[in-house]
Amino acid sequence: MKVTVVGAGAVGASCAEYIAIKNFAEEVVLVDIKEGFAEGKAMDLMQCASLNGFDTKITGVTNDYSKTADSDVAVITSGIPRKPGMTREELISTNAGIVKQVAENLIKNSPNVTIIVVSNPMDTMAYLAHKSTGLPKNKIIGMGGALDSARFKYRLAEALDCPASDVDGMVIGGHSDTGMIPLTRLATRNSVPVSKFISNDQLENVKEETKVGGATLTKLLGTSAWYAPGAAVSAMVHAIANDSKKMFPCSCLLDGEYGLKDISIGVPAIIGRNGIEKIVEIELDDAEKAKLNESAEAVRKTNGLL
Ligand code: NAI
Repeated sequence: MKVTVVGAGAVGASCAEYIAIKNFAEEVVLVDIKEGFAEGKAMDLMQCASLNGFDTKITGVTNDYSKTADSDVAVITSGIPRKPGMTREELISTNAGIVKQVAENLIKNSPNVTIIVVSNPMDTMAYLAHKSTGLPKNKIIGMGGALDSARFKYRLAEALDCPASDVDGMVIGGHSDTGMIPLTRLATRNSVPVSKFISNDQLENVKEETKVGGATLTKLLGTSAWYAPGAAVSAMVHAIANDSKKMFPCSCLLDGEYGLKDISIGVPAIIGRNGIEKIVEIELDDAEKAKLNESAEAVRKTNGLL
């Protein structure tokens, strides 16, 4: 398995590190536009190989896509992150041009690649990658829901005072503070609905903390987060590499599923060797359906800025 990660910044490097530590890919190529930056990150990471015991070969290149040839998976993290107080949507004017050009360069060199889009505003960037590459819709996956769901589980575990591995929960909808929909109705602790353990007010608080999870970290860090985003991407790359058929909520190009068409937005999907193996349509209640439609409207509005 050869993986290219475009953007050797905070999220890209963290993702490369997790992929290497899990030791399932033969090769990771880091690409950045900043002269020498990806080369430096790759060298630093490779100096961890003997310490962390991995065999994955990490190389770095400055904008040389010939080195990415025949990648099985490519991750797009290139672009600017938000600063405190900014929304993800405000990044569109800078990131759209970058993502379009990067996606085109990737498929020129790896026509069969599966692309995971991370750059924000992610749902719109995933939609743009579809439009600019013409890849089949199973081959472009937006990463947002995997991270938002991990943040949801973190907040649930905190409220329930239990390990995060005890809880299950999923966030669907657009990857934005107002668009994401933590499905509290379906959240469980070892198959028991979480409402058995915490009050509605606590659950409402978990939902709100989840939605602003990224903004909370941006305020603390002065820039957006990278460890959990990197871990979320590497989990998805691992599912593709191992053909695990693991389910992640992720941004998929919809064609009628959930009553939506011609939009990339977060819904549960089975991820395996072919990228999106299947979009899973779960039964939503009326309030959840209304929220998903509202979230889709907001994503369409951002898509309109392309
Ligand atoms: P960063 O600034 O640390 O890294 C971005 C890297 O992209 C920089 O090294 C920059 O030189 C590089 N770059 C810019 N233009 C390029 C081009 N044309 N070709 C190759 N490389 C290029 O930013 P960070 O924190 O890694 O975030 C990256 C993106 O990911 C941001 O848009 C951020 O909002 C997004 N993000 C998305 C998440 C999600 O859940 N979807 C979670 C966290 C961040």
